[in-house]
Amino acid sequence: MKLTVTTKPLEQISADALIVIHEAGGMLASSANKSLHSHFDSFKRSVERKKSTSEWFCTLERDSGVKTEHLLLESSSFDDRAPHDEPLKMAAARAAADCRNYSLKRLAVGVHHPFAAGKAAAILEGILLGDFNDQRFRNKKTRTNRPQLDLVFTTTKENEKEVRQALERTRAVCEAQNHARELVHTPHHILTPAKLAETAAELAARHGMEAEILDEKELRRQGYEITWQVGRGSEYPPRMAIIRYRPKKPAIRQHIALVGKGITFDSGGLSIKGVATMPWMNYDMGGAAAALGSIEALARTNYPGPVTAILCCAHNAVDGAAYHPGSILTAKNGDTIWVESTDAEGRLVLTDGLHRAGEEGAQVVIDYATLTGAVVSALGPQIGALFTDDEELASLFLHAGETCGDDLWRLPLVREYEQHLSHYLADLSNKASLKTGAGIHAANFLKNFVPAKVRWAHLDIAGPANTKSGYRYFSKGATGYGVRLTLEAMRLLAEGDWPQKEARRAKW
Ligand code: BES
Ligand code: ZN
Ligand code: ZN
Repeated sequence: MKLTVTTKPLEQISADALIVIHEAGGMLASSANKSLHSHFDSFKRSVERKKSTSEWFCTLERDSGVKTEHLLLESSSFDDRAPHDEPLKMAAARAAADCRNYSLKRLAVGVHHPFAAGKAAAILEGILLGDFNDQRFRNKKTRTNRPQLDLVFTTTKENEKEVRQALERTRAVCEAQNHARELVHTPHHILTPAKLAETAAELAARHGMEAEILDEKELRRQGYEITWQVGRGSEYPPRMAIIRYRPKKPAIRQHIALVGKGITFDSGGLSIKGVATMPWMNYDMGGAAAALGSIEALARTNYPGPVTAILCCAHNAVDGAAYHPGSILTAKNGDTIWVESTDAEGRLVLTDGLHRAGEEGAQVVIDYATLTGAVVSALGPQIGALFTDDEELASLFLHAGETCGDDLWRLPLVREYEQHLSHYLADLSNKASLKTGAGIHAANFLKNFVPAKVRWAHLDIAGPANTKSGYRYFSKGATGYGVRLTLEAMRLLAEGDWPQKEARRAKW
C-alpha cells in the first residue's frame, strides 16, 4: 500500500475516488466547482437529518477543477453504544470495500477535523484492517485481483506533521496485526512449531531484534521438559522462540515480556476433541501470534523500553509416545503437575514461557493465550478476558481496551478456588476438580508459575482471536486481537498518562 499526506485541497488531488467521512470532515477550497460543493452540502444535510448511517456514492461530471471521477461520502453510525472511534473505522472500511467493488485504487481521503491526527489514524486503521483479505490458499481461478491501494490523506498545514506521524504509527501497527492474522490462518502442517519459530526469527532479523530458538533437544537440556512433553506425540517437534527488542537509548527501564501460547494445532491429545471444535484449532497459536505481532509493532514504532517475546510452540497431537492423562510432569520451577487432561495443554507450555520470562530478567509479564472455551461462553466472541492481581496493570490494560478497539473485561483470580487445583499425588492438577469457572482455574494455575517479584497479567483471548461470522471491519477468521491492545497499553505506559487511581482492588 502506498501512503501519502498532502495539504492540497481535496478536489485538486488526482485520484480514482475522493472519500469524505462526515465525522472526520473533509474540506473543499472555496474555488471548488459548484457541483462538488452541492454534493457535499446535500450529503451533510441528509446525514444531520437522518442521524444514522448513510452513504453516498456518485460519479462526478468531468467539469473544471475536479480531477476525480468518483465521490464517496460516508457517515459513521451515531451509535454511541459502540466504543470510541469504532464507527469511524467501520465507515472507512465500508468506503474501501466500495472502492474495491468499483476497482478504484487511488483514494484521496479528506481529514479536516480538530482532532485530525486521531481521525486520520482511525480511518487508516479501518481501511487496513477491513481490506485484509487472505487469498494465499486459493487457486488462480478463485483468486481475485486486488491491486495495492494508493492512499492520499489531505489535511491542513497545522495538522500535517501530526497526521503523518499518526498514520505511520497506525500503518506499522495494522500491518503487524495483519501479519499475526496470516499466521493464525496458516494450517498446522505448514505453520509447524519449527516454522513458527523460524518466522519469528526472520521477523526479528528484519527489525533489528535478537532471536534465540530452542529446539526439542535444547528444551530438554535446559529443563523445559513440559513443552517437550506436550509436543512429543507429533511429527513436528516443539520449539521455544525468544525475541529480544532492545532500544538503543531506552527511556523506560522496566523490562516487559510477552509470552504467547503457540499450539500450532490442538487435537486435544489423548483427551481428544470432538468433530465440532477440532477443525478450529489451527488458531490455537493465536496467543503467540499476538505476542509476535505486538513486538513487531513495538519495534517498528520505536517503543522506548526493553521487550522480550517468548513463544511456546508445540503441536498437541496423538501417537503412542504422546503424553497421557495420568502423566506426572515436572515444571522448570520444580513443581509437579498431574495431567488430568491432555487438552489443558496451553497452561502447561505457558509454565515454561513464564519461567523463561523470569530468567530473561523481565519485571512485567503479559501472557496471551487461546486458553479456555469457558471464557468464550462467559464473554462471547468479541471480548478478551483479563486476569491480574496487579491493580496498576489492570487499570493500564482496561484503559487501553476502552480506546483501541480490542475489547476487554476483567475476571477475578478467585483465591478460594485454588484448592480445586490440588491433587493427591502431585503438587497441582492441570484441570480443576470443579467443573464450572474453567477460565479462572486456568488463570489460577498459571499464577503458580509467575516468577517471584514479577508483575503479571494474563489475557485469555480464546473468544476474540478468531471470528466465525465477522464483525465491525473484521472479515471471517483471525482478528489479530491483542496487538492494538498491547500497543495502546505500552503507549500509555511510555507516556505515563493512564489513570492509575481508577484501579480498584479485586474483592477476592
Ligand atoms: N485451545 C483450547 C481452548 C478452546 C477450546 C478455545 C474451545 C476455543 C474453543 C484449550 O487448550 C482447551 O482445550 N481448554 C480446555 C480446558 C479444559 C480441558 C480444562 C477447555 O476449555 O475445554
Ligand atoms: Zn486443549
Ligand atoms: Zn489449546
